[in-house]
Amino acid sequence: MEHTNVNAIEAAKQLDIINELKVRFEQEKSKTGKTKTYHIETFGCQMNSRDSEKIAGILKQIGYEETDSEEADFVIFNTCTVRENANNKVWGRLGYLGNLKKKNPDMLIAICGCMMQEPTAVEKIKSSYRFVDIIFGTHNIFKLAELLQLRLNSDRMIIDLWKDTDLIVENLPNERKYSFKAGVNIMFGCNNFCSYCIVPYVRGRERSRNPKDIIDEITALAKDGVLEVMLLGQNVNSYGKTLEEPITFAQLLQEIEKIDGIERIRFMTSHPKDLSQELIDVMKSSKKICNHLHLPMQSGSTRLLKIMNRKYTKEGYLELVDKIRKAVPNISLTTDIIVGFPGETEEDFEETLDVVRKVGFDSAFTFLYSKRTGTPAATMENQVEEAVAMERFNRLLKEIQTCSANRTLRDEHTVQKVLVEEINSQDPNLLTGRLGNNLLVHFPGDPSYIGKIIDVYLEESKGFYYIGRLQE
Ligand code: 5AD
Ligand code: SF4
Repeated sequence: MEHTNVNAIEAAKQLDIINELKVRFEQEKSKTGKTKTYHIETFGCQMNSRDSEKIAGILKQIGYEETDSEEADFVIFNTCTVRENANNKVWGRLGYLGNLKKKNPDMLIAICGCMMQEPTAVEKIKSSYRFVDIIFGTHNIFKLAELLQLRLNSDRMIIDLWKDTDLIVENLPNERKYSFKAGVNIMFGCNNFCSYCIVPYVRGRERSRNPKDIIDEITALAKDGVLEVMLLGQNVNSYGKTLEEPITFAQLLQEIEKIDGIERIRFMTSHPKDLSQELIDVMKSSKKICNHLHLPMQSGSTRLLKIMNRKYTKEGYLELVDKIRKAVPNISLTTDIIVGFPGETEEDFEETLDVVRKVGFDSAFTFLYSKRTGTPAATMENQVEEAVAMERFNRLLKEIQTCSANRTLRDEHTVQKVLVEEINSQDPNLLTGRLGNNLLVHFPGDPSYIGKIIDVYLEESKGFYYIGRLQE
């Protein structure tokens, strides 16, 4: 059977269960007078945030109402496992949840996401956190209603974990966090197996969505008032290669560009090894693709890049940056860097600093290497001492801060288009908006601007954000 068909059948089945639960919840509510609440705690990346919107969509449809507090009837932890500290946060919060559940035994607790794709984490829950009600993974989020129904009809822990899947069920109810911007999955999984990274093991093999489904979804979002889309995938530059009718990421972008109502297109993450000239050309000619590229370099040492299995060299990375800057001169470049990868020497680290200085990134996410069991790097000799890695990490941070501040100064005293996102969380008199290059600006203004793209004068650079004022 065609996959599109299988996906549609699965979606229909889940919608039936959602409706059954809705009736059941309405009946309960008419007896108790209470609406049940849910709370989702999302750890990790934008893929997880997108997954949490799906979870919220299903729960709202069933009749749950969202609450900010963990004292909810149904608490869901959507976990991340990319680095050890992500896991530690989950264990800490889970202990706290256990105490809450002692006070409210009817409370339901579900754990899902990347950490649950690791058998050791699931074993730990089964042995030490017996109060957890439902465990599922990254491949079967669309089954949440079915798992909830199973749990409500039994008193055992429901565990449903898939190693991988070909199913792509993306059209169930969905609860977007913002009305004016949205994340859109264009592909799932990763085939790159960078030697430090656990993602290919927990998110499975690379699969691209059909271009038509993506275009339909974005067209519907645009009709619903969305101005900005963020196309999501672990390696968007290899989008479409595995489809029956192959299409390139650059071609997909050109199709999305045609959708009326969409004003801004972002995407992440780009792997340098797959970034094509075609994509650079499309970015150059596009009116909607944002002036920003996130291009993880991980290390500046060709020797380490090889051991990391990144498939490019220091020089290759620098040449790529040159090509991009020539095509799109004012583009904002950001990156990811790992410090303390096994065997990293002072010389290797100096190479990283050298690239940072040469490129002059607008900003960078810097990570201390974290050993992930099951990855090739975990068993490599010469793991770097923590104190050494920490010292390098701090030096790197300083370098990045200097680069960022220099780059932000460039646009000081200019007028920029800004998508107004929210009332400033620190000062309610200010609004917070995002520039095309992804930086934030805070400025006085009326909340009615939220969700609109307006002109803002950047009065003062604060290193990695701006203070501005409305440009009438
Ligand atoms: N240790 C530290 N950082 C890591 N990343 C991925 N795996 C690890 C790890 N084991 C970082 C990479 C990647 C980002 C999302 O997380 O820099 O680009
Ligand atoms: Fe991990 Fe590398 Fe895949 Fe990114 S490209 S998810 S770093 S394996």
